[in-house]
Amino acid sequence: MKTQKLFTWTLCALAAAAFMSAGSALAQKRDEPVQTIPAPRNMDPAMVELGKKLFFDPRLSKSGFISCNSCHNLSMGGSDNLKTSIGHNWSQGPINSPTVLNSSLNLAQFWDGRAATLKEQAGGPIANPGEMAFTHELAIDTLKSIPGYVNEFKTVFKSDKLSIDEVTTAIAAFEETLVTPNSRFDRWLDGDDKALNKDELAGYKLFKDSGCVACHNGPNLGGTSFQKMGLVQPYKTANTAQGRQEVTGKDADRLNFKVPTLRNVELTYPYFHDGEAPTLTVAVDLMGKLQLGREYTKDENAKIVAFLKTLTGQQPQFALPMLPPSTDKTPAPRPFN
Ligand code: HEC
Ligand code: HEC
Repeated sequence: MKTQKLFTWTLCALAAAAFMSAGSALAQKRDEPVQTIPAPRNMDPAMVELGKKLFFDPRLSKSGFISCNSCHNLSMGGSDNLKTSIGHNWSQGPINSPTVLNSSLNLAQFWDGRAATLKEQAGGPIANPGEMAFTHELAIDTLKSIPGYVNEFKTVFKSDKLSIDEVTTAIAAFEETLVTPNSRFDRWLDGDDKALNKDELAGYKLFKDSGCVACHNGPNLGGTSFQKMGLVQPYKTANTAQGRQEVTGKDADRLNFKVPTLRNVELTYPYFHDGEAPTLTVAVDLMGKLQLGREYTKDENAKIVAFLKTLTGQQPQFALPMLPPSTDKTPAPRPFN
């Protein structure tokens, strides 16, 4: 009897110890309205490399000076940190430049979601008179005049076409690699209790319990829906963007914008589609009032901001691409007209 009892007890203790050590080696993932960033799908490295070159190549613009990276600077969180962007001939852009980081996780592209995919989006800026001010034909002529590109497109796409379709496919493939995993918040989501301090955790609880997650959810803490800016209290702005209404034509969609990602938000100031909120403190204060009808104390605001700063992930790491040189046949840049 006695030995059997002891035996059972020993078995239980052993099982418990085994469970505990498994628990610490493989901490429990948390079930939260926010998830960690999935790894990008397996992609063709040669295509990604070509897309990276095109992303950095200013010769896709009329001026020969503006590249995708001018307004989506990968050294600055994939944005330009300006209220609204500067386009061709120093023209003032109409809207704030969203980050390209993690944009593959969004349900659609642009503030109003008018492009369904990254590939569809990538054709836009090249031909936009207020951005790169080129035409797709001239961009293709330029690339075709550069043997380095001609060969690389041939290798990657196994064809001689060199079309805008190939250009946008390659850029989109590169953009899909621009994810930022392993933020401190992700480590916490994966079960590491020490990844957040007390204030940051309190900030996340406030963020969750007061309802920010109703809109900022999923792996991107945003990008899952279009929502009204000024849900509880109207938003006052001189910016003329009407948001989703410009796509659907419906009155009800006026000032509905794609909920922006909060990943790396510490790096992507200033905030909102008009860039009118200079700091996270101001943005959080306005979100509380306009979207939730809630006034946070200074201390609560600071805790939410502390939480938001834990969302800065591992930034993309790569060598700057070396771009193949122009030739005598390459159309000359026209920066001043
Ligand atoms: C002159 C500045 C400028 C240049 C150059 C530029 N962009 Fe943008 N980009 C913007 C602005 C501003 C927006 C937001 C426009 C809107 O929503 O109406 C945007 C939006 C985007 C988005 C959507 C992100 C999201 O979450 O909605 C992506 C992706 C993007 N650009 C990629 C590119 C690529 C690729 C290039 C180069 C081919 C490029 N951009 C060139 C300023 C620029
Ligand atoms: C009803 C949906 C909704 C709720 C609730 C909400 N947001 Fe937002 N949030 C948005 C939308 C839409 C925008 C973009 C508004 C714009 O640009 O005009 C935004 C923008 C932001 C931005 C600026 C991001 C950027 O890159 O420009 C921050 C920061 C932010 N929200 C944080 C919060 C916090 C913190 C809470 C809770 C206090 C919250 N949001 C609650 C929908 C919401």
